[in-house]
Amino acid sequence: MSRVAHPAGPRHADVLPADHPPAPPADLNALHPAIWPRSAARRDGVLTLGGVDVRDLTAEFGTPVFVTDEEDIRGRAREYLLAFNEGQNDSGGVFYAAKAFCSRAVLRWLHAEGLGVDVCSSGELEVALSAGVDPSMITLHGNNKLPSELSRAVSAGVGHVVVDSFEEIARLAFLASEAGTRARVLVRVTTGVEAHTHEFMATAHDDQKFGFSLASGVADEAVRRVLALPSLSFAGLHSHIGSQIFDTAGFEVAARRVMELAARIHAEHGVFVTELDLGGGFGIAYMPDDDPPDVKSLTASLRSIVAFQAAAFGLPMPRLTIEPGRAIVGPSTVTLYEVGTIKDVDGLRTYVSVDGGMSDNIRTALYDASYTCVLASRSSSAAPMLSRVVGRHCESGDIVVRDCYLPSDLSPGDLLAVAATGAYCRSMASNYNHLTKPGVVAVKDGVATEIVRRETLDDLLRLDVG
Ligand code: LLP
Repeated sequence: MSRVAHPAGPRHADVLPADHPPAPPADLNALHPAIWPRSAARRDGVLTLGGVDVRDLTAEFGTPVFVTDEEDIRGRAREYLLAFNEGQNDSGGVFYAAKAFCSRAVLRWLHAEGLGVDVCSSGELEVALSAGVDPSMITLHGNNKLPSELSRAVSAGVGHVVVDSFEEIARLAFLASEAGTRARVLVRVTTGVEAHTHEFMATAHDDQKFGFSLASGVADEAVRRVLALPSLSFAGLHSHIGSQIFDTAGFEVAARRVMELAARIHAEHGVFVTELDLGGGFGIAYMPDDDPPDVKSLTASLRSIVAFQAAAFGLPMPRLTIEPGRAIVGPSTVTLYEVGTIKDVDGLRTYVSVDGGMSDNIRTALYDASYTCVLASRSSSAAPMLSRVVGRHCESGDIVVRDCYLPSDLSPGDLLAVAATGAYCRSMASNYNHLTKPGVVAVKDGVATEIVRRETLDDLLRLDVG
């Protein structure tokens, strides 16, 4: 049986058969504005990002390389903050989910724009702290946080710990009381909403590892325990229903169910849920016909659902927070590869091998995700050629872009750019086949700055101490 409940790509209920290629685009050189970073343009046919020619970027930093448009990230962060905080008395209701991409520079930019940070490991926590993120604006997640992580979070004074299990409630209470402090917690609830996305990215149906189930009453019990422990301070509830979601209905149902729990909590304990975190998951465009929800209408609809429910139950409006990851960084970044070999499989398609692959983008192999790519180092008016962009790993599933059209005069040495690789590509990179992980270069106003250094073979060999 397939594990792929829905494709992780863009159009969730509409899967093309694997052997059915899409139609070629009208213009192979075009850069669709919803998919490419905001600064992407062609200058004399050559792709520029943040005003920097991709040939200069690869000459200086090599390939493959992730190129991140700083203004694109900052702009999206500002839009989320503005849209989400409208009508809310305090600011800072947007927490960037660092799992999408975690580096000091990016966390610094986002924190400077006013965002908090959601981390899910001590590694992400240390990056956030070392980037100077105010600990009170850090939220710690995870279904099996290590005692050492909980303890570090307590000593650093993180703003919220999202508790995910009964064991963790006990561990955190113990560690906070040892430290003579109170940990502020959100209780993660699974609302039973099945988000229309890939099975591995949907997180609020009951048969999965995260959170306390609403349906079974376990969530009510978790709140009871938190309230009974003096070293824990109950701030409210957390719900995350999945990732790469286009349909806002799932958020609405989840928000409604969480507010029903808030009403029960008030009835049972006389305690108000003062904070409600609705998680992340807001989808982005990977392909031209993707139509993700608009930030303003999405956040307005979340707010009105919660306000309506609060009023219906006679509860005060909780402070709302969200945790977008992909929607902040996903569209900001492209991966540049150099074409190495080109193999024509007669009558079928052309395999274009690049100098990276599943080690820098596992999403195609893992989720059957779709990507868009273009010839970047020049434009071309040659006829479209149905292509599959593949990596250089010893595995036939090593596919970066399953189906795309590239110009038929494509040659070794040309540069390809794959769009929308800012989220969950570098952060899920591996060293499979002992390939080194690409670096990340930020571009802005014609200047390129390396923010994550490319790995070297020495980096790999240094760990091999046997
Ligand atoms: N908050 C929580 C509690 C989460 O678990 C996640 C993502 C987010 C926020 C951010 O979700 P976003 O806004 O980025 O969709 N590796 C998969 C995605 C896994 C997402 C896991 N949790 C992918 O490549 O698509």
